[in-house]
Order: sequence, then C-alpha cells, then structure tokens
Amino acid sequence: MVCARTASAPLLAAALVAALAVACSLVSGAHAAAEQEAAGAGGNDLRLRQPPITRGLSFDFYKRSCPMAKSIVRDFVRHAVRKDVGLAAGLLRLHFHDCFVQGCDASVLLYGSATGPGEQRAPPNLTLRPSAFKAINDIRDRLERECRGAVVSCSDILALAARDSVVATGGPEYRVPLGRRDSRRFATPQDVLSGLPAPTSAVPSLLDVFHNHSLHLDATDLIALSGGHTVGLGHCVSFEGGPDHEPRLPRQAEADVPGQGHRRAHPLDVRTPDVFDNKYYVNLVNREGPFVSDQDLFTNEATRPIVERFARSQQYFFNQFGVSMVKMGQIRVLTGDQGQVRRNCSARNPGSADGNLGLQWSSLVQTVVDAAAESLGF
Ligand code: HEM
Repeated sequence: MVCARTASAPLLAAALVAALAVACSLVSGAHAAAEQEAAGAGGNDLRLRQPPITRGLSFDFYKRSCPMAKSIVRDFVRHAVRKDVGLAAGLLRLHFHDCFVQGCDASVLLYGSATGPGEQRAPPNLTLRPSAFKAINDIRDRLERECRGAVVSCSDILALAARDSVVATGGPEYRVPLGRRDSRRFATPQDVLSGLPAPTSAVPSLLDVFHNHSLHLDATDLIALSGGHTVGLGHCVSFEGGPDHEPRLPRQAEADVPGQGHRRAHPLDVRTPDVFDNKYYVNLVNREGPFVSDQDLFTNEATRPIVERFARSQQYFFNQFGVSMVKMGQIRVLTGDQGQVRRNCSARNPGSADGNLGLQWSSLVQTVVDAAAESLGF
C-alpha cells in the first residue's frame, strides 16, 4: 500500500442496513435499467433516453448570440487535454463540485470576499486543479472575443468543458442543454462540506446526498456518475479512513507521481488511468475501487447488479453516463433573469447586488464608504 492510512469508524453496520436503505431508490434505478435494456444497451441513440430539460434551458440557446460557442469550447478542451490529460479530470470534477453545492451556477469559481472565504477554500475543493480554473477563464476570454461581450455564462462553460473532457479522453458524446446563469454569491464552507459526499461514505449516505440535491437522481445515476473516477487522481489524504478496503494501486503509478506523504497522488482507475472507459467498474468487481464510496457500490448487494452490468457493457455505461450528466447539470440552475452572466468567472459583476444578506450589508457599507470617499474628493 502506498498511502499511510488511519482507521476510522467501522462501516459494518452500514453494510447491514445498506440493502434495505437503497431498495426504494433502486426501484427507479431498476426501471431505468429495464428501459435501457428495452432500448438496446448496445444502441447509440441517446435521444430516446434524454431526461426532461429544465424550463429556460435549450440545446440551441446560443444559436443567435454566439453560434460558435460550442465549437470554441470543444476546440479549446481538445487541444488543452492533448497537452495535459489530467486537465480532463480536473474539468469534469469542477463541474460536479459546482453542481453539488448550491446548484450548477459557477459559484465554485468565485473568489472569496469580505463576507468570507469562497468555496475553493473549503476542504473538498482544495484538491481541485488550478489548471481547470484557469482553463475556464481562458475559454471565457476566447468566447468574449468571438461573441463580442459576456454572452456565454461561466456555468454553461463548465458544463460544456466537462462534456468535452469526457469526449477528449474517449468517453461518450451527449448533448448539453444550455442557458444557465451564474450566481452572484458563493456558498459557505459548511454548505460545501454538506453538499459533497465524503469518500468514506457507504451507499445509503451517498444516496441521501444525491437525493437531497435532486429527487431525480437515483441509484443508477449515483453508480453512473461515480464512473467519472475512470480518469484522474486522488491524493493520499483522500484515501484515508477506509478501514475495510485497500485500494490496490500499481507500483508504477506510485513511482510516476510527484509529491510526498499526503500530497502524493494516485490514479483512481488502476487499469486505464487516462482513458474514459468502463474499466472503473471492472476495478470495482476486482475490489480495486479507489475509495470506500466507490467500492461500496459493488459491496452493496442492491447496487452490485448495475456495477456488474456497466463492467460488462461499456456502451451501456456510456449511454447512462450521458443521461446522468444531463440530470446532474440541471441541478438548481438559474435561468431567465435570475443571476447574471459573469464578465469574469472568478468575480461577480461589479455593481451587482448579492442575494445573500451578509453581502447586501457589505455592499451597503461599501456604498456608504464610496459615497464618503467621493464627497471627500478621493
Ligand atoms: C459519489 C460521490 C463522490 C465522491 C465521494 C468523490 C470523491 C472524490 C475524491 C475524494 C477525489 C480525490 C480528490 C483528491 O484527492 O485529489 C475525487 C476525484 C475525482 N472525482 Fe470524485 N467523487 C464523487 C463523485 C464524482 C462525480 C459524480 C464525478 C464526475 C462525474 C467525479 C469526478 C472526479 C474526478 C474526475 C476526479 C479526479 C480529479 C483530478 O484528477 O483532478 N467524482 N473524487
């Protein structure tokens, strides 16, 4: 084993209650599975299984205002991932961390302010890749030049860049509904912690977190979206706390990665670390899942059949992953005249009031300070 580990509370009890706890959500999961089967797991027609699209979003949202938007993001990601394959994992995870905290509103990109630290400073976000944040801003700059102004929202860029990262590493193509608007405020560190599932979680609590975000996210979505761990790295600190499973990480991987102790990083998918494929599920079947939250998807008797099915059929996984990403990408989106289209993805637009009481007060104070400064001739 390559990471030093510390024992945490046993998960035995979780194993016992797990089958019962997931039974309900599996009814819808099994239903989705049956639907997939009926449609032909080997088929390519994703349209049949597209989830409903939130009012205000559409596939051709930028058709008039920025017709090249999708291809600009696609080209950028394709070239950038060719140079640094890890960026694909970074962008995919960034979209997930955005959507699971306050909805897909690009709040994860905001720097902190006088009211407190931004979401990036909360522990689960400390390992988000700086290169992914930079890529989003670079794409935004390119879009601003091409489309003459702030037309495409940062939250839409996140959703497109995640999809294009999946495609650039060999994963499925799926259509991304667009028209999200960016929030003016970020969540508290506490909201970040409660919004994102912990790698030590077992299936019942993972399902709780997914359900809390959207009643539409079921066990099949949990298993399919966890397949995002087919690319990217985990740091030693993230592997701690799983007493009953030992990720088997290849020696070569250990030798290849930089960092010391907790800062060492390891591929999440020991078979094909840089390819978006279904080998993550093959790893789970072989008890080589990276985290407890991954391995328990196989340990748990209720979720195991779906894991096995994904391990058997990559096409089946690909189809479901596309559907689940579209669902995840619509969690609590802002549309219409809600929110704003940020001119700089890291900061809300100057002069735009914040929905959060704390910030309203700080804006008020700022206004008074500005007015005083003006009257004093500063
Ligand atoms: C189901 C609950 C999930 C848990 C508990 C979880 C947890 C984690 C943890 C602990 C890491 C390693 C962070 C580090 O040490 O650097 C990680 C990495 C990653 N996660 Fe998840 N994750 C979950 C779901 C997802 C989902 C839904 C996606 C996307 C669809 C995703 C995509 C990724 C990617 C791509 C990486 C690698 C990032 C990189 O290399 O920069 N994860 N996840």
